[in-house]
Amino acid sequence: MTCHCISFYTTILGVLLLSLLYFAVAVDRTNFKTCDQSSFCRRCRKVKPNETPYEVVSSTVIQNDSTLQAELFNKDTGVSYLLQLTSLKDNIFRLHINEKSPLHKRYEVENALQDHPRQAELKIVESLSNNVTVTSGPNKAVLHFSPFRVDLYSGDQLVVSANARGLMRFEHLRTKAVKQSEDNTDNNAGNPEETAQYPGDGAEDDPGAWEENFKSHQDSKPYGPEAVAMDFSFPGAEHAYGIPQHADSLALRSTKTTDPYRLYNLDVFEYETNEKMALYGSIPVLYAHGKERTTGVFWHNAAETWVDILPSADNNMVDSIVNFMSGNVKKPQVESHFMSESGIIDVFFLLGPKPLDAFRQYTLLTGTAPLPQMFTLGYHQSRWNYNDQEDVAQIAEKFDFYDIPMDVIWLDIEWTDSKKYFIWDARKFSNPLEMVQNLTTKGRKLVVIIDPHIKRDNTYYIHNEATANNYYVKHTDGKDYEGWCWPGASSYLDFFDPKVREYFGGQYALDKFQGTTNDVYIWNDMNEPSVFNGPEITMPKDLIHYGGWEHRDVHNLNGMMYTQVTYDALYKRSGGTLRPFVLTRAHFAGSQRSATVWTGDNAAEWEHLRISYPMCLSVGIAGMSFCGADVGGFFKNPDSELLIRWNQAAAWLAFFRQHSHIDTKRREPWTFNDETTQIIRDAIRIRYSYLPYWYTLFREHEISGYPVMRPLWAHYPGETATFAIDDHLLVGDAILVRPVFEPSVTEVSVYFPGEGKDTWYDVDTMQENKTPGATRIPVTLHKIPVYQKSGTIVPRKMRIRRSTVPMKNDPYTLVVIADAEGKATGKLYIDDESSFEYRHGKYVYLRLNFDGKMLSSRYIDNQANFETASWLERVDIANPPKGVKSAKLTSQSLGTVNLEAKYNTNNNVLTLRKPGVNMGEEWFIELIN
Ligand SMILES: *[C@@H]1O[C@H](CO)[C@@H](O)[C@H](O)[C@H]1NC(C)=O
Ligand SMILES: *[C@@H]1O[C@H](CO)[C@@H](O)[C@H](O)[C@H]1NC(C)=O
Ligand SMILES: *[C@@H]1O[C@H](CO)[C@@H](O)[C@H](O)[C@H]1NC(C)=O
Repeated sequence: MTCHCISFYTTILGVLLLSLLYFAVAVDRTNFKTCDQSSFCRRCRKVKPNETPYEVVSSTVIQNDSTLQAELFNKDTGVSYLLQLTSLKDNIFRLHINEKSPLHKRYEVENALQDHPRQAELKIVESLSNNVTVTSGPNKAVLHFSPFRVDLYSGDQLVVSANARGLMRFEHLRTKAVKQSEDNTDNNAGNPEETAQYPGDGAEDDPGAWEENFKSHQDSKPYGPEAVAMDFSFPGAEHAYGIPQHADSLALRSTKTTDPYRLYNLDVFEYETNEKMALYGSIPVLYAHGKERTTGVFWHNAAETWVDILPSADNNMVDSIVNFMSGNVKKPQVESHFMSESGIIDVFFLLGPKPLDAFRQYTLLTGTAPLPQMFTLGYHQSRWNYNDQEDVAQIAEKFDFYDIPMDVIWLDIEWTDSKKYFIWDARKFSNPLEMVQNLTTKGRKLVVIIDPHIKRDNTYYIHNEATANNYYVKHTDGKDYEGWCWPGASSYLDFFDPKVREYFGGQYALDKFQGTTNDVYIWNDMNEPSVFNGPEITMPKDLIHYGGWEHRDVHNLNGMMYTQVTYDALYKRSGGTLRPFVLTRAHFAGSQRSATVWTGDNAAEWEHLRISYPMCLSVGIAGMSFCGADVGGFFKNPDSELLIRWNQAAAWLAFFRQHSHIDTKRREPWTFNDETTQIIRDAIRIRYSYLPYWYTLFREHEISGYPVMRPLWAHYPGETATFAIDDHLLVGDAILVRPVFEPSVTEVSVYFPGEGKDTWYDVDTMQENKTPGATRIPVTLHKIPVYQKSGTIVPRKMRIRRSTVPMKNDPYTLVVIADAEGKATGKLYIDDESSFEYRHGKYVYLRLNFDGKMLSSRYIDNQANFETASWLERVDIANPPKGVKSAKLTSQSLGTVNLEAKYNTNNNVLTLRKPGVNMGEEWFIELIN
């Protein structure tokens, strides 16, 4: 081996300089492909616009109650395809295109959809020589024959077009052409099976078509080129959002002069922000949004995918379709182009029209997150690693000592016996059951990590059983694949095999998984899968899964198959009584049904703190609203200011966990100084005080699919200034949060949406902000700007205890903010906080309403019924009616009782103390002048 000494030393010097100057984490880009290094991306991106070879064969158009079907023909290759356009319930269309007679079956994604999507009635309204028009409810679809294009209308408005730019590419399966020079037998001459069946799509010219090399890795590609691609145009839209996971802004940026956004689940060491590179998860749903509407596209494909995006501001395409049709006024238009390595074209159009409608439509297809247990919404304390059971005991004790609530302690990989999952390191954890019991008697839980790689160690029963039963992912020659991960030599269970799922799920059973109880929950990491010595740190694409599918076809699904096993296993091991909790790093469409997600291995940098908001908002609108980021940053050490700001920000993300790398200093809330401890304690306590509101939102998410954390434009879709804002968020629709993402600042700019119709009240001072739009707001180290919207009622619990468990029966406080008309509304959901009994009606769901004189609580679901011990402790009414002297509460159990009303002139808040009514019953309170 030759030593490239100069470049070697330059690199070392560069690295040193970089780390000295910036102390920034830096990703090794050479480990990951660019589009140009990926043969299918290269080919798909090269397709020239407006020259599509695809046309619908008009004589083949047929239709039934819900589906329009036709053959599509590629003029260049002579290949035929079958196209189906199906109308689905709730303003959704599905376009499905596959080869009419492929050489062998092409992969179609399983498991992302939760059920068969429900079909809606479709009617042909016009059938002409070059197009056919169908309607479904208020929507219309036009299938254009030549050139092939699909236009979808909402009412009379064209909202999305497929193949309008003609970038569709569907590489038919073929046999490898045998070059004449190599083919000296000449038996095959003239046999069409042995030459390229349908030349003409140029795939053969690509050197990576039948074999692809990257660094030292070779992808054998026995099936050759099989990419699929399609462009989607969104007339009227200004921005595009979605297609997580990227450490980038929420509003997607133009890819005109960069690589496309990449969707390929990868373990990216020291990822950087403002990047379109792939990360741990891939959810191929895109939303295009403009002032008038939101339209989504869900690209149902699990292979490596690249997506080109052109937001309207960067779009100077020769007059867009609509501009052309609707006169000269330049309308905004977003362009996108999806390119996948294999599979078929199967795409769902989510016609909105509002942002929340589009989010709901996506979750109608892929499911919502089941209501989590209350404890999961509390504060989580993790580290790689809490060393032993004494360490765990001390950490728990310290939280009590400092009076900081904490629900869960986490154990990273070092809890295991040399990375053999399910087996405790007996020296460090000699009595795990007692350790768990000590936590649970204080109302806390434990989470342990279980990774999907299996140590190749013939003293490890799982390895032996997996080997004997053929449970591992295989090479093409049938041998077990072996890679390198935490345990060293490892193999990878094939979670696509139902037998493997059943086997591995069985390992979680309480009698199998020694040292755990139903209070121990699970963290699934490294499930991209991460393979330290694999191509791009993952599994080679030509490995074989159950059913003979190549890893290439199913890669982005792999992590979800794994977490579904865990979810089901936890459900089973509690006899179906407890709601499972699983944290995952890798994710795909549908992962919300089984797991909570975090943003992986971030760093203790201000920029990483800031990016946690757009990253969680992005995955949130893609169904996975239960998202958080490692508090303090995984790599490197935060200073006290960064840690404070991080806790204050993370207290308003759905999943709130501190976690850090093994080489970092301890950073529990008390490890800096008293002031830091106190401020972090306050941030965590505020989180706990809002848990009733969070919990209500999670229940509503389960029903409606609305994310719990929302970008501003979700509720202010017509307010252009909100479109690019991603350092603020709304919790539900009532709480506006704008954390401090910069060091040493004394004020930040807060954008108050609502154009003055909604106003916002500082939750600490109850002072109204009257200036709509961007406003400078002073901050101290103790404070970040958080506001409650006028016209809302937010339920809270003000008695903060060591965890959520002892707070279960605590009383509620209602914070009512009367709007300009003196009115407000809100909702509160209450159940047992842990079991599935709520699915059998054991809950109360209350509408809280204040009409200016009377505050009432009424059942939303009359059939539901749950006995809670919680009662109403206090009501604060901001902007109350004038001159209230007292109040009268009426309920069935209390009859009518008088309440004291106290008006505070300083903050204009009327307080009713100890109404005392049980929250499980209906009641009303009249204000009396
Ligand atoms: C309509 O045709 C499609 C495609 O052939 C088929 O999948 C679907 O089940 C049919 N629906 C009805 C209602 O017959
Ligand atoms: C459909 O095709 C006809 C010609 O057959 C054309 O006149 C008409 O404008 C087309 N309709 C649409 C919606 O493009
Ligand atoms: C559990 O708590 C008891 C009482 O504080 C303590 O003596 C024991 O060491 C703890 N056990 C473990 C495994 O932490």
